[in-house]
Amino acid sequence: MTIYVVANKKGGIGKSTTAVQLVTGLALKGRRVWAVDGDKDQTSMLLALTIRMNSGLPGIAASELSDGATQRAQVRLQAADFDDVVIAVGARASGSLRAALSVADVLLIPFAPRSFDVWAFENMVNLVREVQEMRDFKVLAFLNKADAAGQDNERAIADVAQYGYEIAAVTIGDRKSLSHASAAGMHVSEFKGADQAVRREVADLLEAAINLASN
Ligand SMILES: Nc1ncnc2c1ncn2[C@@H]1O[C@H](COP(=O)(O)OP(=O)(O)OP(=O)(O)O)[C@@H](O)[C@H]1O
Ligand SMILES: [Mg+2]
Repeated sequence: MTIYVVANKKGGIGKSTTAVQLVTGLALKGRRVWAVDGDKDQTSMLLALTIRMNSGLPGIAASELSDGATQRAQVRLQAADFDDVVIAVGARASGSLRAALSVADVLLIPFAPRSFDVWAFENMVNLVREVQEMRDFKVLAFLNKADAAGQDNERAIADVAQYGYEIAAVTIGDRKSLSHASAAGMHVSEFKGADQAVRREVADLLEAAINLASN
């Protein structure tokens, strides 16, 4: 059983989008997966997975657990019933972030070119390091909403690299189909409007996360 946490203190960076793709991608691989939405202001993942079910696609277990202590207790209690758990943390949900890190096996940190906020990242890195002193977990940062051209992708990757975290070889482009699929609770491979390029990127990111979990 692997607990994946998707977090970044910066808002609007693709945490919920990534979490929907992870959870649906794992479910499509036949894994029993539980989606935990730690964002009480914007339960985007939970809403998307509800839309998924209402549209007739196979349902995925999902809960809103935004209170830190409750989230930690419930995840500890229920995680063993699943093959994987995916926790999406809200940008301002510091209690949920700490709770999620205290149970995480793999932390995925999406970051974007330009909107990369050094202070928010540094803030989060400090918390990640503090928790890692007590228990270790793996960290995979990846570039989301990558530009099709230009230097900004490389600059953002260089900024994040100075913190010493593993950065995924795969980058996720700025892709409308990914946004639409995720809002409908669909994996890009279930979504007609998603082309091969975005399907490949999302599949590669999932493989990178699974590989990290099993190493
Ligand atoms: N790779 C991408 N390509 C295009 N749009 C994207 C991509 N990733 C995220 N988005 C869009 O950016 C917006 C913010 O994404 P999302 O809600 O996943 O971010 P978040 O980090 O969960 O935000 P919050 O901090 O508010 O919870 C959404 O409209 C989403 O569809
Ligand atoms: Mg979100």
